[in-house]
Amino acid sequence: MAPQVVAPSAEFDWPKLAFDLYPTAGFVKYVWKDGSWGKQEWSDSPYLNMHISAVGIQYGASCFEGLKAFRHEDGQVKLFRPDENSARLNHSAAALSMPEVPKDLFLEAVHTAVARNLQFVPPHAPYGASGSCYVRPTLIATGAELGLVAGREFTFFVYVTPLGSLYGSAGGKAPGVDAVVVHDFDRAAPMGTGTVKAGGNYAPVLKYQARAKAQGYAITLHLDSKTRTQIDEFSTSNFIAIKKRDHESDKPTLVYPKSESILKSVTAKSLMDIARSLGWNVDHRPIAFQEVVDGGFEEVMACGTAAAITPIRSITYLKDDGEQAKVSIGDGQNAGPRTLELLQNLTGIQAGNVEGPAGWLWPA
Ligand code: COI
Repeated sequence: MAPQVVAPSAEFDWPKLAFDLYPTAGFVKYVWKDGSWGKQEWSDSPYLNMHISAVGIQYGASCFEGLKAFRHEDGQVKLFRPDENSARLNHSAAALSMPEVPKDLFLEAVHTAVARNLQFVPPHAPYGASGSCYVRPTLIATGAELGLVAGREFTFFVYVTPLGSLYGSAGGKAPGVDAVVVHDFDRAAPMGTGTVKAGGNYAPVLKYQARAKAQGYAITLHLDSKTRTQIDEFSTSNFIAIKKRDHESDKPTLVYPKSESILKSVTAKSLMDIARSLGWNVDHRPIAFQEVVDGGFEEVMACGTAAAITPIRSITYLKDDGEQAKVSIGDGQNAGPRTLELLQNLTGIQAGNVEGPAGWLWPA
């Protein structure tokens, strides 16, 4: 039987949809105690009652995921690769000494959170990234402890919000944004928690991001902490580039940084698969920042669930002599042709307008 179709809420101002939090019907949660997960609970208020000494609050045992649901032309809603987010959440849980969230429980939670909020999934758009329902699974240590221990209680919850574009650049034309390298802060230590989607990886970046915004940059880029010469990722998303070709007729090459300190983006993984399916080369290797400086890339983009595919039109950095320099990418304005091709394929698959690999779309 086909799932129930619930139309987008007529009270919502869909054309004004922004990257923001909107009230919804509620969220779903599960509590882990005495060695196992309890039953699903539904809450129609967006608050969690927590002890003031919860390990998640005091010692930062908290991690999250981000995935999206899209409305297809027939009104049905599909989730994009939730199984990948389930695996990544458990990678984070293990790193932060929290219990595994079984895949079936994760999928049930995501399904319930979206299915009970179907009216908050935006109308179908041919480019899915211009309107989706963002799903935020979160795992936090809610046990109360004073000592530095993992605790005895954990809460897994999933909430949703209708979502517009993070950098205002998703959709058909895609103007680029300006990026700046964070030169005075190391995001993730070697052998540290860079691959973990822990809340604690994001808070230290806030002031550098705010400084960059005040200076006119939309997005901040991090280099590796050990040598500060290799590209890691943006504060919000992964880095992907298209290599400059020697001859017009050469196949495009998508380059993705190999680093032990970056979050493994489901979007980046999907884009590498899409690139291969288009017959492009995919080069997963360390990327020296010097390659950007030397003009080695025709196109650069930020990619992630929230960022979707955001074209980067310039990258500003501090040179060794302390002077600032700006590298212009492509035409210095809009997304290049390969970025647009990836954007159309990814968002087309998500919106159900382009046939994608089996197993990428799940019923909500
Ligand atoms: C996501 O893409 O889901 C994220 O978690 C990015 C967030 C930092 C805005």
